[in-house]
Amino acid sequence: MKTKFSVLLCLAALLSSCAGTQEQPQAESNDSQAVIENIMTRTSVRRFTSQPIAADTLETIVKAGMAAPTAMNIQPWSFVVVTERAVLDSLESVHPYSNLATATAAIIVCGDMQKYNDDTLRQYWVQDCSAATENILLAAHGLGLGAVWCGVYPSAERVSGVRHVLELPGNIVPLNLIAMGYPDGEFAPKDKWNPEVIHYQKW
Ligand SMILES: Cc1cc2nc3c(=O)[nH]c(=O)nc-3n(C[C@H](O)[C@H](O)[C@H](O)COP(=O)(O)O)c2cc1C
Repeated sequence: MKTKFSVLLCLAALLSSCAGTQEQPQAESNDSQAVIENIMTRTSVRRFTSQPIAADTLETIVKAGMAAPTAMNIQPWSFVVVTERAVLDSLESVHPYSNLATATAAIIVCGDMQKYNDDTLRQYWVQDCSAATENILLAAHGLGLGAVWCGVYPSAERVSGVRHVLELPGNIVPLNLIAMGYPDGEFAPKDKWNPEVIHYQKW
């Protein structure tokens, strides 16, 4: 609970710094710790309570997604936010591992192929939308929510199923759907630290 509170403080500090407010040096140090703790404690959550997510919370999370870096700053994304049970159920019927049975929301991160006027640059759409996805996962975790990245692209079947359910235009490709809600239980992060995969200066 204390952790969640400090992460909320951190997010508030980050948003106020975006608005141009000056922070005290000590506060920055605590905020930095909270940012690292948020990254290290995030884990996929696949079981949720029935508590709905407020619309402004979902908007804050999508805003975090849009803060991600993108090649040439193209920002080739569109996001579909789903909270209606019927639509969540339809999405679940076209994605066998979507974890939407108890989710109260889903954010579908999509690439907009019309944002690129260059075929080489277009190849970066997956990286660009993946960066947005990780921001969304971290923002959700920082706000006390649980979430899981459920891959859609490059499965042709899932892309076509999600496209059909959400009535996406042809230029919009769904990269993933993020199932979301308040966690039903405690979920421990996996320890992935492996110093053997780090190389300094050269391989
Ligand atoms: C590209 C991608 C596709 C994924 N697809 C699914 C999925 O369809 N269903 C699912 O339950 N989890 C999916 N995951 C979540 C991974 O299983 C999870 O991130 C991984 O096991 C590591 O666990 P962690 O997120 O708790 O660190 C996906 C993750 C990524 C990055």
